[in-house]
Amino acid sequence: MRVITKIHEMQTEMKKLKSQSKSIGFVPTMGFLHEGHLTLIKKARQDNDVVVLSIFVNPLQFGPTEDFSTYPRDFSRDKSLAECKGVDILFYPSAEEMYPQPTSVKIIVQERTDVLCGKSRPGHFDGVAAVLTKLFNIVMPTRAYFGKKDAQQVAVVEGLISDFNFPIELIPVDIVREEDGLAKSSRNVNLLPEERVQATALYHSLIAAKAEIDKGVRNPNTIKTLVTNMIASETKGEIDYVEVYSYPQLKTVETLSGTIIIALAVKFSKVRLIDNFIIEVEA
Ligand code: PAF
Repeated sequence: MRVITKIHEMQTEMKKLKSQSKSIGFVPTMGFLHEGHLTLIKKARQDNDVVVLSIFVNPLQFGPTEDFSTYPRDFSRDKSLAECKGVDILFYPSAEEMYPQPTSVKIIVQERTDVLCGKSRPGHFDGVAAVLTKLFNIVMPTRAYFGKKDAQQVAVVEGLISDFNFPIELIPVDIVREEDGLAKSSRNVNLLPEERVQATALYHSLIAAKAEIDKGVRNPNTIKTLVTNMIASETKGEIDYVEVYSYPQLKTVETLSGTIIIALAVKFSKVRLIDNFIIEVEA
């Protein structure tokens, strides 16, 4: 595995690989790799000749009161994991390399951001779109891999790729779950033992919602109420949101049809969990 820290070196290498008609799978991350990232790397490895992983904690996507400086970092661990999982090139630029001066152009994501987690993080997705625009131009991947757990980020990236005509195939990768259905997250360790048991209700509520849709329910409010009631009765967590939207547009719908997302966020004592189902609904 090669570690590259300079943009011009990366672009030279990527141009060389492209001239050899190699397909390039790209997994952008902020490091501190967990099982979700490893699943993306595995999928990229299966689909492509070359796998590129980037590790860059992007200051632009953190708000002034957010945890940029304390965001967990462990490059040597990440490097060994990446090597072990078959990454070919690890792109690891510094902040000075990525942003040598304040950018003269700002990307503003106008749609899909004022709901779900984006509602409480103004500017976050502008920063994500800015760094991905740079990374896409540096890596020039054939395919880019993103986890469906952060379904709103996938929706924003879908808009970015299509609006700016990046010749990149977006590959959303399914949520990895524990045996009892809880979506895997490095934050799950912060659940108290009784909360860990209760947290399976998040997944069960989504399963129950899907079962109702399969039976013919098409009213989004019925689905929201069902999910909310199940979580409220089976957990002591505080519901942040339970929403049903069209996907990837993230617009409210009067009746369920086409691709929809049921998304939820629940705060436990020391951790906030998110989960979602993206479902194809026949009209
Ligand atoms: O999901 C992340 O880790 C980040 O938002 C991303 C896509 C690497 C952009 O900084």
